[in-house]
Amino acid sequence: MKLSLLFLAPLVGAAVLSSPHDGSSTTQCPGYRASNVKNHGQTLTADLTLAGKPCNSYGSDLKDLKLLVEYQTEDRLHVMIYDADEQVYQVPESVFPRPSSDSTINFKKEALQFKLQHDPFSFQVVRGEEVLFDTSASHLVFQSQYLKLRTWLTNEPNLYGLGEHTDSLHLPTTNYTRTLWSRDAYGIPSDTNLYGNHPIYVDHRGEAGTHGVFLLNSNGMDIKIDQSDDGRQYLEYNTLGGVFDFYFVAGPTPKDVSMQYAEIAGTPVMQSYWTFGFHQCRYGYQDVYAVAEVVLNYSQAAIPLETMWTDIDYMDGRKVFTLDPQRFPLHKMRQLVSYLHQHDQHYIVMVDPAVSDSNNTAFLRGMEQDIFLHRNDTVYRGAVWPGVAVFPDWFDSDTQDYWNGEFNDFFSAEHGVNIDGLWIDMNEASNFCPWPCADPAAFAVYDNLPPAPPPVRSPPYPLPGFPPDFQPSSSSSSKPSEKKKPSGKRTPSGKKTHKKRAQSGKGKKTGLPNRELIDPPFHIANAAGSLSNLTIDTDIVHAGEGYVEYDTHNLYGTMMSMASRDAMQQRRPSVRPLVITRSTFAGAGSHVGHWLGDNLSTWDKYRVSIAEMLAFASIFQIPMIGSDVCGFGDDTTEQLCARWAMLGGFYPFFRNHNNYGQIPQEFYRWPTVADAARKVIDIRYRLLDYLYTSFHTQTVTGEPFLQPLFYLYPEDRNVFTNQQQFFYGNSLMISPVTEENSTSVSAYFPDDLFYDWFTGKAIRGHGANITLSNIGLTDIPIHIRGGSIIPLRRDSAMTTTELRRQGMEVLIAPGLDGTASGELYMDDGESLNPSRTLQVQFHYSAGKLSIQGQFEYNPDVAVESVTLLGQTSKHHGSRSDVEYNAGRESVTKKTNIKLTGSSEVQL
Ligand code: NOJ
Repeated sequence: MKLSLLFLAPLVGAAVLSSPHDGSSTTQCPGYRASNVKNHGQTLTADLTLAGKPCNSYGSDLKDLKLLVEYQTEDRLHVMIYDADEQVYQVPESVFPRPSSDSTINFKKEALQFKLQHDPFSFQVVRGEEVLFDTSASHLVFQSQYLKLRTWLTNEPNLYGLGEHTDSLHLPTTNYTRTLWSRDAYGIPSDTNLYGNHPIYVDHRGEAGTHGVFLLNSNGMDIKIDQSDDGRQYLEYNTLGGVFDFYFVAGPTPKDVSMQYAEIAGTPVMQSYWTFGFHQCRYGYQDVYAVAEVVLNYSQAAIPLETMWTDIDYMDGRKVFTLDPQRFPLHKMRQLVSYLHQHDQHYIVMVDPAVSDSNNTAFLRGMEQDIFLHRNDTVYRGAVWPGVAVFPDWFDSDTQDYWNGEFNDFFSAEHGVNIDGLWIDMNEASNFCPWPCADPAAFAVYDNLPPAPPPVRSPPYPLPGFPPDFQPSSSSSSKPSEKKKPSGKRTPSGKKTHKKRAQSGKGKKTGLPNRELIDPPFHIANAAGSLSNLTIDTDIVHAGEGYVEYDTHNLYGTMMSMASRDAMQQRRPSVRPLVITRSTFAGAGSHVGHWLGDNLSTWDKYRVSIAEMLAFASIFQIPMIGSDVCGFGDDTTEQLCARWAMLGGFYPFFRNHNNYGQIPQEFYRWPTVADAARKVIDIRYRLLDYLYTSFHTQTVTGEPFLQPLFYLYPEDRNVFTNQQQFFYGNSLMISPVTEENSTSVSAYFPDDLFYDWFTGKAIRGHGANITLSNIGLTDIPIHIRGGSIIPLRRDSAMTTTELRRQGMEVLIAPGLDGTASGELYMDDGESLNPSRTLQVQFHYSAGKLSIQGQFEYNPDVAVESVTLLGQTSKHHGSRSDVEYNAGRESVTKKTNIKLTGSSEVQL
């Protein structure tokens, strides 16, 4: 291991007294001194000792720290600064399992170097000549309730990540603060903290390479990006606790960074084929008839609807695990689900974490199992949709059993609502009752609403579009599962104790005692105000190890995601559960997908959805991502909805959803929108195996499926700030119209060869913008990147089940060198661990297409044709073996290739 131990002059800091909220009152803090440095080969350790009088600015300075540096892989360096006693909170391994180290590293190939400065302590991470991280920018501050570390960056850096936010993909570099603290953020305003937390940034330096920096810390934090008084660029972490647990990944390309981050956070979870179909949802379907009507209307409008969703409307008084007996009676719900299943469609409903504190079985059983959050010795109460509510404690080892039990009963295939996927919401967690929430009943807003009018239709009215005597396919009266008694005991102080999990290290790492957990001395810029406002009180102590909400608030949504995925999995053990969550923490993508929350029906939110989606898919490793198509809040317009339908067709997760009280916006409501939807779903479905293949690749290697342009053209400075175009897989560049009342878009074409999806016409990009005109509301510019081979279905279908029966076509788009390649991955589309897969590589050169790979899974359809793009009628004149496609500059050869073994086609 190459360790350079540098001795640099101490930094001289100006003595400034200032507001306790911005971290500047730490400029007098003494920093630390490194000693006892031990180089163990693959790791290095040192002691860090406070270098002077404690400044105790936001809590008390910790005198003794430890430094651990690990070369974990040839591309990854782990640097940890933590308290010598190991009492300070660290993110639990049960929520974020740590990546393992490779013990066979070839140090000659290690990409990163660690350089230590002893006094004052600072360090650099270096790749070749390039200094990537340099903490000499300020003294390290490590206090009981505040940590600060600042790194120098290059000037005018290209930084991405640090979500969740609706700011630009390419982050601002001056006077910019990114706050990480989960928040229910209606309207997803820019410059604020939103639902999820991903403390990773990508620093892209063009030809000099790209690297990533991930800080594994779940405490509330402000990350500041700015310039010092003398104009030097820096990034500064200000956290409310935890430890500095850094992972540096070396790149050197943006794709490498994503793949290396996936090794830390986990590769995303694979989704079933059907989940990529089109989903319809809204908040405010008044009854099961209204839901059935939407299903019928889609079918009558010939717009493929794969999955129907229902929001909290189905619940009795918005209580989770209940059905409104009048509007959504069980027998009608079962009819609806059965009907959908018989038509190869799917059904999803919402579950919130908060359980109504009223006489309902989910509450009573939760009380009996003692799994709700406690404040001292009483159950903690807030107010959410059903009124006064209590919250499951995901740290309680009985909660999974409770959650499984509720799912088994309520979502039982035999006697309940047999859902295919799950939507979880409000898990930041959201609480309508502002801190100090002394009277949650005062915020039970929906309890005080006038009673809803009686249902418009009453039994025995049949569900619209269903045969009058339609019966669910299965019915049984199997009994709800027995609930277990709680395994833990509550102490007199209210803390529930369990058998402890094994701890590594000497301390418990569960958090320092005696901290100010409600109003800490350092204030982060939480847009909701104080830490506990409109969420769960941060001084709550969780069951088990005794973690406090102050440290673990940002994990609540991910822990609910993990528990919900497990609960769905045990209902249907052999298939992949789809869970879509609102709140996420780093690593959530290895369990669930995410939608981008409560956007608005505005052009701004339409545009920013691209940047958000790219950050989640390519950087945070949550590729099952999409925003509410046509917008959630405010009324949409025909034009916006049509454009959004076209764009949404290229979201991995494609769902139309809107808010209670807004005008209906199902795609069939306007002729233009219906046309747009039919057209884009047709394209999406024909490309569904391409999507599935690229998505699958990401689940195996972390190579992102959706990508900003700089991922594919990392040296082209013109694309570093581009966030209106994107790559869908490696082969398709999407350039949506982004302005209202416009029918053109100025799209950037990198120096490469592209082909228009619709006309097949070749476009030679020269690293400049090209104005694409006459883009009607039912159009979206799609360009195939030269060098690609794309497997397609020859025809689309009304459902993805039917789609899988369609024959295939192979589309060849030769690159500048005349060659092309591509892949196809297939399996049965839903098994958790498919026993047989098809993994095919296509190569084209010198007029010959070769198909090779592993052919264990037989899709039972043939490649019925091969199309070669970039062929004009002039080329065709000389050929008799192929057919020229008028209107699309290409030739097609009819084939009948069974995907059961290697083959070749001469074109
Ligand atoms: C908030 C969610 O973000 C939204 O999508 C949903 O419709 C409402 N909660 C009601 O459940």
